[in-house]
Amino acid sequence: MTAPTVFVLSGPNLSRLGTREPDVYGSDTLDDIHAAVQREARELGLVADCRQTNHEGELIDWLHEAVDAKADVVLNPGAFTHYSYAVRDACAIVTTSGRSLVEVHLSNPATREEFRHTSVIAGVATGTIAGFGLQSYLLGLRALV
Ligand code: DQA
Repeated sequence: MTAPTVFVLSGPNLSRLGTREPDVYGSDTLDDIHAAVQREARELGLVADCRQTNHEGELIDWLHEAVDAKADVVLNPGAFTHYSYAVRDACAIVTTSGRSLVEVHLSNPATREEFRHTSVIAGVATGTIAGFGLQSYLLGLRALV
């Protein structure tokens, strides 16, 4: 039997991890996170398809692709979390199709600026994990198995 694929998607500015506000996001780069995700996925019997984009439409296309591939999703929507109804609607397509979608954040947005306290994604996600740095992604993967 082939291992199920999980889409691990990251939104805008997350390609800058490592140098982007390290006091908030830590010193791990996105490549470090993807390497750790690949290791964890192998241990869990999954295949992780890791991608990052700065573009809302591309992220939406990937969420549609996950539905067509019948793949679960770990998603860090970055700032789209707080205002993108289009990304929310695409996430709802994932979860209403019967797949799981775990929203993850490196930081804990609830402890930060007011505008970060709202997630328009959370209401259509299977669950949310926030505040554990790189571990948020790994916990997101574990939540799927
Ligand atoms: C983030 C939190 C968001 O508020 C922010 O816009 C990001 C990263 C996180 O992983 O902590 O880009 O999603």
